[in-house]
Amino acid sequence: MRRKLVAGNWKMHGNHKANAELLAGIAAARPFGCDVAVCVPFPYLSETAVALAGTDLRWGAQDCSAHEQGAYTGEVSVGMLAEFGCRYVIVGHSERRQYHHESDQLVADKAKAALARGVTPIVCVGETLAERDTGQTEVVVKRQLSAVIHTLGHCAGEMVVAYEPVWAIGTGRTATPEQAQAVHAVLRAQLQAATAHAATMKILYGGSVKPDNAATLFAQPDIDGGLIGGASLKAADFVAICRAAG
Ligand code: PGA
Repeated sequence: MRRKLVAGNWKMHGNHKANAELLAGIAAARPFGCDVAVCVPFPYLSETAVALAGTDLRWGAQDCSAHEQGAYTGEVSVGMLAEFGCRYVIVGHSERRQYHHESDQLVADKAKAALARGVTPIVCVGETLAERDTGQTEVVVKRQLSAVIHTLGHCAGEMVVAYEPVWAIGTGRTATPEQAQAVHAVLRAQLQAATAHAATMKILYGGSVKPDNAATLFAQPDIDGGLIGGASLKAADFVAICRAAG
């Protein structure tokens, strides 16, 4: 049995006061029967590390540089994330692919940089509505994942994959459990062809996961937890989703 993972993606939300309340609310609800993490904005990594120290809750970032160091103004290296105790880093989120024009190869290079420093990349893949409507879902997610598989080589088994249909992110329109499972099965098969570890790898679903739909999504055989945006900003909602996974 794969242990589930629920990771919050705070996106560009938060402030000192709200963060403290949210983190305390999550910590107070322990123990969970699944792995739980929060991926916070860079400036809040330090206070998150302090708030969650001594708990089994993990934290991470929402992006990283593919470079180790150097003249890359505004970027943050994985080495820096590791210094703040990050266990995870999201790479290839659709908002980065869309607004920052991140290519499949750049996402793959970021995932590789993360693993090189012992930080687990949560690699996001997903199709747009236009791609789904024109029957390209499989082709798109396989292309996105394939770049990462090839770049990681024998380390591919160490990543976490997140299937996030772009049309379901922040829209309140969730993929049905059957739609999500169908894509997860495709991704699992692709991983199986590439690594001996596919059966133990986590494939998360993301896109309008809420307390009332989490359990049915997580009950699907190839859905191993969730990447949670909006609902990760309210302790009660996030905790309910973690409970649905446990
Ligand atoms: P959402 O975001 O839960 O608000 O749809 C998910 C994500 O973008 O990771």
